[in-house]
Amino acid sequence: MTTPTNGGTAALPAGYRRIAFDRVASTNDEARRFAEAGAGEGLVVTAAIQTAGRGRRGRTWVSPHGNLYASFVLRPPVKPAQAGELGFGIAVAVAEAIEQLAKGALARCKWPNDVLAGGKKIAGILLESRGTPETLDWLVAGIGLNVAETPEKANWPATSLAALGGDPSVERALEMVAGRFDHWYRLWLGAGFAPLREAWLARAHALGETLRIKRNGDEREGKFVGLDPSGALVLQLADSRRETISYGEVVE
Ligand code: BTN
Repeated sequence: MTTPTNGGTAALPAGYRRIAFDRVASTNDEARRFAEAGAGEGLVVTAAIQTAGRGRRGRTWVSPHGNLYASFVLRPPVKPAQAGELGFGIAVAVAEAIEQLAKGALARCKWPNDVLAGGKKIAGILLESRGTPETLDWLVAGIGLNVAETPEKANWPATSLAALGGDPSVERALEMVAGRFDHWYRLWLGAGFAPLREAWLARAHALGETLRIKRNGDEREGKFVGLDPSGALVLQLADSRRETISYGEVVE
């Protein structure tokens, strides 16, 4: 880990402050450490390079120089079971930022928290939290956005802002993402999950199409007909029964 600074040129919304590292294992690990040590809401930990970036479901997030790696420390007054709702708002925030940074790009949200552009993955979100079943102590929202580099993903084709003809500046990407992040975070705190869910559905990848979902050893196929009020994916199976899937991976 290299010595942190107060960051680069990105302007952050009021109430946010930044600790920027050149190189860390994972910005989520650092953010968790700061949260455990008492850091207040709004700390943003960034790094130019991650040597052990983490993705969902134990995957590696390959993190070369040139992309955005940012983890937000939050202390929302919600029950731990609700924390996952914010992931949908963050996906919308990142999608909006991508469309501002790469003119003409159409960003879509892939369940639960991925962001696609041109059908390829451009960003991922990793939420981690600590608390009791009743109280959330902290929530760390980690965002990885391919800005200049397009590391290959094992499970889905990938793209980047640069590949889309967009702005290859990490600082500008952070500024845009943080601005939209703050908007959706505040809306969630004030109005709950419904507006996030609605905005996410308006950008949903493959809504109305047949999807295959992998869940541990099991696979399910059906028409993606919506999200339930908690954000679980609703599939309509071949026999017209509906099944609600709260975790898993969309493989097609
Ligand atoms: C995924 O799509 O599986 C989620 C990827 C999340 C990657 C980001 S990069 C910043 C933060 N630090 C990490 O180690 N992971 C998240």
